[in-house]
Amino acid sequence: QTVAASVALMEKGNYRHFMEKEIHDQPEACQHTLSAYVDPVTDHTHTPGGVDFAKVDRLQIVACGTAGYAGQIGRYLFERLAKLPTDVEAASEFRYREPAVTPGTLGVAISQSGETADTLAALRWCKAQGLKTAAVVNVHESTMAREADVLWPTHAGPEIGVASTKAFTSQVSALTALAISAAVARGCIDAAEERRLTKILMEAPRLIADSIQVEEAVRALAPELAAARDVLYFGRGAMFPLALEAALKLKEISYIHAEGYAAGELKHGPIALIDQGTPVIVIAPTDHLFEKTISNMSEVAARGGKIILITDEAGARNAPKGARTIVAPTADPLIAPLVFAAPIQLLAYHVAVQKGADVDQPRNLAKSVTVE
Ligand code: G6P
Repeated sequence: QTVAASVALMEKGNYRHFMEKEIHDQPEACQHTLSAYVDPVTDHTHTPGGVDFAKVDRLQIVACGTAGYAGQIGRYLFERLAKLPTDVEAASEFRYREPAVTPGTLGVAISQSGETADTLAALRWCKAQGLKTAAVVNVHESTMAREADVLWPTHAGPEIGVASTKAFTSQVSALTALAISAAVARGCIDAAEERRLTKILMEAPRLIADSIQVEEAVRALAPELAAARDVLYFGRGAMFPLALEAALKLKEISYIHAEGYAAGELKHGPIALIDQGTPVIVIAPTDHLFEKTISNMSEVAARGGKIILITDEAGARNAPKGARTIVAPTADPLIAPLVFAAPIQLLAYHVAVQKGADVDQPRNLAKSVTVE
């Protein structure tokens, strides 16, 4: 055994896998990341690197894999809170399609490693067009961190598991704080509203810790899901990109075919996949879209789909008959993507463990994809 391998083993502590440890690290990772963006005394957010969001007309986010889903969650926040038009695209597509960008666009790369080949190429392409660029990056000595005009750090600490967990929630934490900061800079919210939102955001580490408590409930469902051939995930609003991330996590480490869909798209295809016993995982905290999602679920149930509803207490009380529930803490919609991340990660993790898969080193995948 190499020295590095034994150090790594020690760092795993009492956890069986790095992924499990890193899921449990998330309250701390989120807290550390937020401390780079929020003054805990004044509850003001600030934008590291001095980007003036009032002078930005559009955000162009580029990323790969899980980082891309963090970017999609970011889009909901930047557009809703800061009225800042935001595009998110897979870096591998963006870099080759000759996109039409306008001068006031800020190019934003999101990457745990800061070395992913396609994301780096997309960042360089933005720079070559004369755009200002920022990079949300976890490895602060990486190429992207050096080359972007501005570094927006995440402080997740080293992430060893190939399937990203704490880097993802750290990215979402940073983007949420930045969206609040952008909303202030663009005159969309006043100082009182900024304080209110920031206080909610600062509750996220505690609520993530609470949401990890669903672990036993999730573990109990693992044997049944491990036997499934296909699993479908549904969500609305910011829970839609989280459904995509949930499906990716399950595919990556348990090799079960999984797809995420916007719940409103159910009738446009995915409903054809549902027959007796298809597991359907619905991510639906109580919010203004909850009723709509419940009505989608009734259609799934009517066709024999086995619903697992990941929701909060009020949502569980209103769950359709026959649905099993995983009850996460009640959270403001601002931080619901952070609070609902752990349950979907734990679900993928325990299904993979149940299947005996190599959770930290899934087949065919690399932690950092530095070649095309
Ligand atoms: C690989 C990893 C994913 C990660 C993606 C982007 O596919 O397996 O977990 O989301 O690369 O990596 P990055 O370092 O740019 O965030």
